[in-house]
Amino acid sequence: MDAVESTLVLIKPDAVARKICGEIISRFERRGLTLTAMKLLRITPEIAAKHYEEHREKPFYPELLEFITSGPVVAMVLTGPEAIKIVRTMMGPTNPVNAPPGTIRGDYATIMTNNIVHGSDSETSAKREINIYFTEQELVQ
Ligand code: TYD
Ligand code: MG
Repeated sequence: MDAVESTLVLIKPDAVARKICGEIISRFERRGLTLTAMKLLRITPEIAAKHYEEHREKPFYPELLEFITSGPVVAMVLTGPEAIKIVRTMMGPTNPVNAPPGTIRGDYATIMTNNIVHGSDSETSAKREINIYFTEQELVQ
């Protein structure tokens, strides 16, 4: 049996501005993943620094922080069998140039910074990232 997992997904500011939140959420629901938490929020520089701490020393870090704090995002927890891997596969590669049509980045994005979605990359990241955006009480069982 595939393990039931929860993963943290962000619909990034570019996608919220383009009014495609519904389309993106629909894709995850149609796949069979269950929404177990969701909110619209503006990411503060403090939250952004926590979320992307692994990238602090990277050359793209300042641009990444500026982008992710530039407008509201939708944060959600998606739950289901192998949810972490399924979401990553549905998102496509980080650089939309390499993302095949049919993936979210491959269908909606062209440049790396504005790549529409975030999804946790491992169980450890998922637990850590869910805790950044949601309290225990906000997670629906
Ligand atoms: P990363 O965690 O490597 O990608 P992913 O979102 O697929 O897990 O990087 C975080 C974000 O940083 C990525 O979504 C877009 C941005 N980024 C750049 O702008 N340039 C880069 O070279 C990389 C690797 C990422
Ligand atoms: Mg990542």
